[in-house]
Amino acid sequence: MENLHFETLAIRNQTERSQFSEHSVPLYLTSSFVFEDAEDMRASFAEEKEKNLYSRFSNPNTTEFVDKIVAMEHAEAGYAFATGMAAVFSTFGALLNAGDHVVSCRSVFGSTHTLFTKYLPKWQIETSYFNIDEVAAIENLIQPNTKIVYAETPTNPAVELLDLEFLGKLAKKHNLLLVIDNCFATPYLQNPIDFGADIVIHSATKLMDGQGRVLGGVAVGSEALIREIYLFSRNTGPAMSPFNAWVLSKSLETLAVRVEKHCKNALKVAEFLESHNQISFVKYPFLPSHPQYEIAKKQMKLGGNIVAFELAGGLSAGRQFLNALQLCSLSANLGDTRSIVTHPASTTHSKLSEADRLEVKITDGLVRVSVGLEHHADIIADLKQALTAIQ
Ligand SMILES: Cc1ncc(COP(=O)(O)O)c(C=O)c1O
Repeated sequence: MENLHFETLAIRNQTERSQFSEHSVPLYLTSSFVFEDAEDMRASFAEEKEKNLYSRFSNPNTTEFVDKIVAMEHAEAGYAFATGMAAVFSTFGALLNAGDHVVSCRSVFGSTHTLFTKYLPKWQIETSYFNIDEVAAIENLIQPNTKIVYAETPTNPAVELLDLEFLGKLAKKHNLLLVIDNCFATPYLQNPIDFGADIVIHSATKLMDGQGRVLGGVAVGSEALIREIYLFSRNTGPAMSPFNAWVLSKSLETLAVRVEKHCKNALKVAEFLESHNQISFVKYPFLPSHPQYEIAKKQMKLGGNIVAFELAGGLSAGRQFLNALQLCSLSANLGDTRSIVTHPASTTHSKLSEADRLEVKITDGLVRVSVGLEHHADIIADLKQALTAIQ
């Protein structure tokens, strides 16, 4: 059947049934595959046949997971990784050469930033950064050796947005590759390829798994670019395990319903926080008060599950707030069924100077909530009682 919807693709895109006629796809926990004879083996290695050889290259479970993301992201091909960071690093490893240059948004996930500052320079690959509110100045950063424009939207943890259409046109104009980490939005809410992205990366660890169980990553894009990423990865070894692919592929079957509910809960949490007098501002893409509300409406289906807000009392208020929570978890993950609260200034970003933190909009009182799937009234009640505990 043609023109199937997102939910149907997520459920019905499945590995061919085995001789046992199973309804739900089994786990192919095998490191390698067998061949009928010498000729079958030769032709398979020569890629004259599409066959699984070895699970570092492909496996029925990882292929099923990748095929679903390819369909969801409107891509041509993809490859699945052990973690989101393996997807980010392998994309750079495959597509960049010594002496290349990257232009990146300053607000990117911490380990991605460490790749830019500590590891890519080992191969003479330098990165220039733009602040989220200075996108008009990106063109000034482009050099003759610039190869990639890199960004995340919404950003972590400040929940700010970049205009994907603008970035897509800019990358095309300068013949650059646009690589977008779409982890916070998921393919259900946003498809960067529709706006001109060349590669879309996900940490599948977050909303794709959605239940805080396994790590995973994926990169999707055109056949030609993914071929480069595939060859790099099949030789360097960051492949996703078949077990994690099996778990994640099942998770994708419920991605649409879970993300819808996450977003409904998050909007209710954001509206509650906005009405509270101890809070100086709330950032949620689908609140009309969000500075980039129009961009959110243009490129996102719903606002996502992350809400950021600023406690008027700064650092000490942030710590007191976290200590007073009774239901929400204090944990490093996000996109779980369980709501998770973090205070970036005293934890994930505490090693940055105050000036560096402010450049990525991490103020002392900034709190990030990954809104889960508990009843929204219980999440709000917990946040409310924790707010009253601040002295
Ligand atoms: C936006 C973003 N990209 C990449 C990653 C890295 O993913 P993983 O932890 O699966 O390596 C994370 C993890 O939090 C993330 O938030």
